[in-house]
This record gives sequence, C-alpha cells and structure tokens, in this order.
Amino acid sequence: MSARPQPVLRVDDRFALRPWTVEDIPALVAAYADRDIQHWNLSSFDEAEAAEVIVKWNNQWMLETGASWAIARTSDDFAIGRIGLRVMNLASGVAEISYWVAPRARGVGAAPLATAAISTWLLGDLGLHRLELGHSVHNPASCRVAIKAGYPPEGTMKSALLHLDGWHDMHWHARVDHVVA
Ligand SMILES: CC(C)(COP(=O)(O)OP(=O)(O)OC[C@H]1O[C@@H](n2cnc3c(N)ncnc32)[C@H](O)[C@@H]1OP(=O)(O)O)[C@@H](O)C(=O)NCCC(=O)NCCS
Repeated sequence: MSARPQPVLRVDDRFALRPWTVEDIPALVAAYADRDIQHWNLSSFDEAEAAEVIVKWNNQWMLETGASWAIARTSDDFAIGRIGLRVMNLASGVAEISYWVAPRARGVGAAPLATAAISTWLLGDLGLHRLELGHSVHNPASCRVAIKAGYPPEGTMKSALLHLDGWHDMHWHARVDHVVA
C-alpha cells in the first residue's frame, strides 16, 4: 500500500476523491463547525487542529494504518466531504469506512457515490476482503448512505459507541468482495 501514492479516484462528473492538502484547512474547519458533523463524527477542529489532522490522515497511508480522502468538487477542487478508513488491518483484509458531507453539499448523493467508489477501489485494486461501516441507530441518513453504497445491514451492536449524549446502539453494515462457503 505505502509503496504507491494515495490514488485520486473519479466518483462521477461532479466529484473526485483525493488526498487532503493544507489548502483544505478552511473547508475542514467550516465543515466541523456543523453540529451534525460534530455530533456524529465526534470531532471539531480549529485551524491548527485541522492542519494537524491533515498530516495525521496523510501519514496513515504511509503507515498503512488507515487513509482519508477529500470528496472534492471537480468544478473547483473544493473539499465538500470526507471518506475515511477509521480502522484498517491489511493482514486480515478488513477496513472500516466513515464519512461526512458538508451541509450545503448534502442530498445529491455525494456520500453514497463516494463510498461506492472507494469501496470498489479498496476491494478491487487494494485487494481488501471485507469493508465495514457502523452508524448510530439514531442516524437514519447514514443508514441510507450505507444501503445505497452497497452495504447491507448485518445487525445492531448494543451500546457500542460513546457520543456526546451517551452510549448509542450502532447499526453494522458490511460489503465483501465475494461470499466464501
Ligand atoms: C449522512 C450524510 C453523510 C449523508 O450524505 P449525503 O451526501 O447528503 O447523502 P445523500 O445525498 O444520499 O442523502 C442522504 C439520504 O438520507 C436520507 N435522509 C436524510 N435525512 C434523513 C432522516 N432524518 N431520516 C431518514 N432518511 C434521511 C435522504 O433522504 C437520502 O436518502 P434517499 O436518497 O433515499 O432519499 C450527511 O448528511 C452528513 O455528513 N451528516 C452529518 C455527519 C454524519 O452523519 N456522518 C455519518 C456518521 S456515521
């Protein structure tokens, strides 16, 4: 994985996935000021923290511990969202996907299309076997993203992730490259 550069991937005519750069700091700070992103993705950043997290995300690729792509508008390369691998284990071929889309870019399919595009690349080119995705049972929009991106539900994990308002049950979804008997 680290032997090659983190790829730029086409999503559709409107969006592409690319590594983060320092040019994205204002977009990142603005996005994480959104209450829903803070609530569901469990973070907020000022400019210094955004700069640090971009270094961290890009280092994950080199360390083979994860990865993060900006969902960028092809018209002006502006970062309107993020697709990340929260957890990745190359030896077992498993990774966990996370995402957000900035408020003004929601509702046009950016998250499910970007998730589908990265999933095709992860299962095909990178050779992972199983991709997982979890969301709070109180986040139905994220459930729709998972279903539309080809991640069928597998079940509910009780009290599995601590949010600002307490522990949430989590819906678990997964997509595999093929079913082994
Ligand atoms: C969830 C999120 C990533 C969706 O991104 P998006 O690019 O707007 O996704 P879509 O354009 O496919 O629209 C969301 C889907 O959820 C549906 N949806 C939105 N709000 C909903 C709600 N309250 N209840 C049920 N469905 C809802 C929409 O109708 C749409 O589904 P449809 O195409 O079947 O109509 C985005 O809203 C977001 O970043 N939210 C805040 C952070 C977050 O939730 N991150 C995920 C953490 S697991």
